[in-house]
Amino acid sequence: MAKKMLTKNFGRIRFNYTELDPSAYESRVFGIYLHVPFCTKLCSFCPFYKVLLDNSQKERYLAAIRKEFGMRNLGGKANWLYMGGGTPNLLSGDEISELLGRIRETVDLADAGMEGVPDLFTPEYIDAIAKAGINKISVGVESMTSKTLESVNRAENRKDRLRGIVRAAAEHGINVNFDLMIGLPGQSTEAFLADIGTVAEIGPGQITTYPFMQISGVKAVPSMDTEQMFEAIEGAGDVLSGSGYYRDSIWIFSNNGGKVYDSSQDELVGDYLGFGPGAFSTIGRAQIVNPGVEAYLEAIENDRWFGFRAEVDEDAAHWRKFARELYKLDFDQGSVDELPGKIRKIMSLLRAAGHVDRSGVTPKGRLFVHDITKTVVETLPFPLSNPSVVENWDDYERAKASAK
Ligand SMILES: C[S@@+](CC[C@H](N)C(=O)[O-])C[C@H]1O[C@@H](n2cnc3c(N)ncnc32)[C@H](O)[C@@H]1O
Repeated sequence: MAKKMLTKNFGRIRFNYTELDPSAYESRVFGIYLHVPFCTKLCSFCPFYKVLLDNSQKERYLAAIRKEFGMRNLGGKANWLYMGGGTPNLLSGDEISELLGRIRETVDLADAGMEGVPDLFTPEYIDAIAKAGINKISVGVESMTSKTLESVNRAENRKDRLRGIVRAAAEHGINVNFDLMIGLPGQSTEAFLADIGTVAEIGPGQITTYPFMQISGVKAVPSMDTEQMFEAIEGAGDVLSGSGYYRDSIWIFSNNGGKVYDSSQDELVGDYLGFGPGAFSTIGRAQIVNPGVEAYLEAIENDRWFGFRAEVDEDAAHWRKFARELYKLDFDQGSVDELPGKIRKIMSLLRAAGHVDRSGVTPKGRLFVHDITKTVVETLPFPLSNPSVVENWDDYERAKASAK
């Protein structure tokens, strides 16, 4: 029942592509998300907005994103900053330093994280981003099995590279997360568990295990169903607890005292301002998604801001909060008590079924939480890869066609 209600809430969001007045979408306490849409290879499991790297377009992008900070009057206190992609580590250390420096001119910013592909996190690179003020990185390892990586159009991983990342990051006090996926085409549970053993031995502070989700825009087909992915992640939990890792949330394990890299959790609650092509923002009840790179550059270079805009209703915001509390496993009872009666009633049912108790989600309740989290992510509307959630897609097509 809870799953049905969540899907209904997330599934009905409709976007309108329109010009936006930046002064109507400012926030003074928020998170910052910078989207770097460039990649040198396009992975078939990836639903996020991305384009193949073109260096002259990257130069225009860097100028435009700086301009976007000014146009949108970025200022105040940011609780977090993430650079996501795409492949953020295609930007050089100097370029990142320049962007973060520009943000710090008007924003009080403590925490800055970025994700990227393993090969580009060289020790020299980690040195440069540490100087730029990055204090956490998330590395897209995905699998240690060459055949699996090849089948999703991804470069092979080398153990010594991964070891080098953990070592260099430790020298600079940077927290490291490795992302691994289960359910990729042709991937077996046995191979996944062997990979978990390998990465646990390399020892990053955090390991995130994602079930392969069929979000709109994803072409590859999972090798197993959601319950099999859940069992595999439970198996990973057993391997990892034997190596000194604790479970931080349904898919996250850490050995660094819970200093987790968790962009999805931060983004579920509170305002966040997204910059760059394809970036999401949530400001109050407004959800905004920036256009793809061509329409984005054309608009910003002409001092205009366009985006896909939707209003999130109060109900949907409450359901999101509920999903987030469950996902953390040891939810905060105070936050649950503030939710409306119908959600609290579902919580009582979960309690009666033995899925939750006073201290949080029980082992019996984990399959439910896995399933509900996966459903929330799979039903998130991605307007750029799903025209059916956009009321006036033709207007966007015209904007793209007239962009230089
Ligand atoms: C935004 S991605 C970017 C990472 C970076 N571009 C890279 O290639 O390493 C962050 C993580 O989301 C996970 N991810 C991407 N697509 C997914 C999907 N369809 N289902 C589940 N997890 C996914 C991957 O583990 C990936 O490392």
